[in-house]
Amino acid sequence: MPESVSRFLAACRKQPVDTTPVWFMRQAGRYLPAYRALRERHSLLEMCKQPELAAEVTITTAETLGVDAAIIFADLLLPVEPMGLRLRFQPGEGPVVEPPLRDRAAIARLRDDAAGELGFVAEAIGQVVRHLGGRVPVIGFAGAPFTMASYMIEGGSSRDFVRTKSLLHEEPATWSLLMEKLCAVLEAYLASQVEAGAEAIQLFDSWVGCLAESDYRRFVLPYSRRVIQAVQAQGVPAIHFSTGTAGMLTALDEAGADVLSVDWRIRLGHAWEQVAYRPAIQGNLDPGALFAPWAELRGAVEAVLAEADGRDGHIFNLGHGILPGTPVENVRAVVAHVHEQAARGVHRERIPPERVHRKRAEAKKSDG
Ligand code: CP3
Repeated sequence: MPESVSRFLAACRKQPVDTTPVWFMRQAGRYLPAYRALRERHSLLEMCKQPELAAEVTITTAETLGVDAAIIFADLLLPVEPMGLRLRFQPGEGPVVEPPLRDRAAIARLRDDAAGELGFVAEAIGQVVRHLGGRVPVIGFAGAPFTMASYMIEGGSSRDFVRTKSLLHEEPATWSLLMEKLCAVLEAYLASQVEAGAEAIQLFDSWVGCLAESDYRRFVLPYSRRVIQAVQAQGVPAIHFSTGTAGMLTALDEAGADVLSVDWRIRLGHAWEQVAYRPAIQGNLDPGALFAPWAELRGAVEAVLAEADGRDGHIFNLGHGILPGTPVENVRAVVAHVHEQAARGVHRERIPPERVHRKRAEAKKSDG
């Protein structure tokens, strides 16, 4: 598909668009009746590993919501299996990775040459690309090295990441070994997604905001940069997502992604200014705002658009994934409203600067 056809791909490159593109992290999920129906018959891992199912969820979701990009249905933790660990999803407990990495020997044993075992993800991407026929670009994704490492070391989700931080401080060489292996796996895995037709790649560094900036620079930045450069060498834009990182956006920007995805804990305009408008920017509606009455939600959406100020290179999204229980009609209404309000030449007239303040105040109210 020529890039000019997709407003999402154009925005990734900071090129002019007819209106602001919009998609949502975790747009496929339990809040959607069609997803729940499939989940009654299949486990999450089955859905990820059967390309027909993963493709079906991806396509149905994109078509139901009317979004400008389809993120492939998969899970961030899939690569831990070919590396030699076990993965399961425990209802109510979240993901469990076993056995958790607790010493150098366990890390030395990890495989870094088996990304090929994740071929079902590339197969699913190929099916989606063939079905959508280039109308809606497909986003491939993976976890960033730090977030992957944290799940493998903690054995699942964590609040304070004590074991992860202990490892990087006490055994920096062992930490490097783990990051090197993760980079090798993630690079091969993402390359296979691009070869299958993914036209952009998002790297999820969901939990990197737990780190001090100095530790981020020393222990994480070189590896994130390496994976991002490998993606860019494939000729597709890289989107770098994180949360809780408002205090270290310039360090994240040094990883060099085409698009920086920011959460709602910082005003989008302020975030973009901090990185001197170098990358495109994605975000940053509070996922909680999707539960608000329409008048509030609309104000919050318009406040995000006002922050972007009609500049080229804004991709409307949430600051983190859609939450279970989110009303589907609100998600669809946001897509329509973004497209309408941000239509170029319309947006600036309809939200004059003096109203931005009020929009922000309204958005704040609905955040609470
Ligand atoms: O629509 C999409 O965005 C694509 C699919 C997708 C899933 N997971 C499917 C899924 C994506 C992009 C992810 C990414 C992911 N997985 C992340 C990074 C994004 C983020 O939110 O920060 C992380 C940290 C994971 C690991 C993971 N998978 C967690 C923490 C959970 C929640 C556990 C739970 O029980 O709720 C999952 C499960 C998961 N992955 C679901 C979906 C749709 C919900 C599970 C279900 O149907 O039971």
